[in-house]
Amino acid sequence: MAQPPANLPRHIAITMDGNGRWAAARGVLRAAGHKAGLKPVRMCIEECAQLRIGALTLFAFSSENWGRPPEEVGSLMSLFLEALDSEIAELHAKGVRMRFIGERRTLPVRLQSRIAAAEARTAGNTALNLQVAVSYGGRWDIVQAAQALARECASGALRAEEISEARFAAALSLAGLPDPDLHIRTGGEHRISNFLLWQLAYAELYFTPRLWPDFALADLHEALGFFASRERRFGRRPAAASA
Ligand code: IPE
Ligand code: IPE
Ligand code: MG
Repeated sequence: MAQPPANLPRHIAITMDGNGRWAAARGVLRAAGHKAGLKPVRMCIEECAQLRIGALTLFAFSSENWGRPPEEVGSLMSLFLEALDSEIAELHAKGVRMRFIGERRTLPVRLQSRIAAAEARTAGNTALNLQVAVSYGGRWDIVQAAQALARECASGALRAEEISEARFAAALSLAGLPDPDLHIRTGGEHRISNFLLWQLAYAELYFTPRLWPDFALADLHEALGFFASRERRFGRRPAAASA
């Protein structure tokens, strides 16, 4: 197995796409495809913790995914609940700090309380910051941040001129974490689909046709190899040409 390169991202964000096509190719229900997606989730968590990549953010359900048929939405909500119950002890034992980002009040109440319990239980862990985006949209995130800042302004605690990029970022869902350096999307689509719109400003974007349930350790290492090969300029001149 290829070794991961030395130059690692500090934060990886993954759009886990392709479960439906994986299921269709096997003639099984879409729900079975979503369930099969748990294996690569475990693998990515394990490897990121092992490599001491500080943060992993997984896109599990978008604001727009509410528009899918109720039976699919229902099976996904049940899967999130089951997966939380079955995985939380091991995640905690591994030292994973788990947080959820998204519009929580739209989630089933039972799921909301399990989420709160998982976050509280793992709050002191430091091996890996794991964020799961559920009912999440990048536009929602920006709007909720704007609302929070507007409330502070209205109360007199903040002046509009004090709203800087840093202050704004601190009101977003991933406050306190470095922006993702690497975004991976499986399933072959080359788009962001309303994921972390603000935070992906300078992420390296890696797209693979591999369907999420098939995403394996070698695929993750390939994405890390891609990341290591990029020269990140952040708008400046290439390192070699700056002399
Ligand atoms: C990603 O897989 C999971 C969610 C969006 C919840 P899809 O269900 O979008 O799978 P495809 O894209 O239809 O294959
Ligand atoms: C993006 O996948 C959302 C998640 C993986 C959770 P979608 O399947 O919803 O994205 P589109 O519809 O192809 O853009
Ligand atoms: Mg999809």
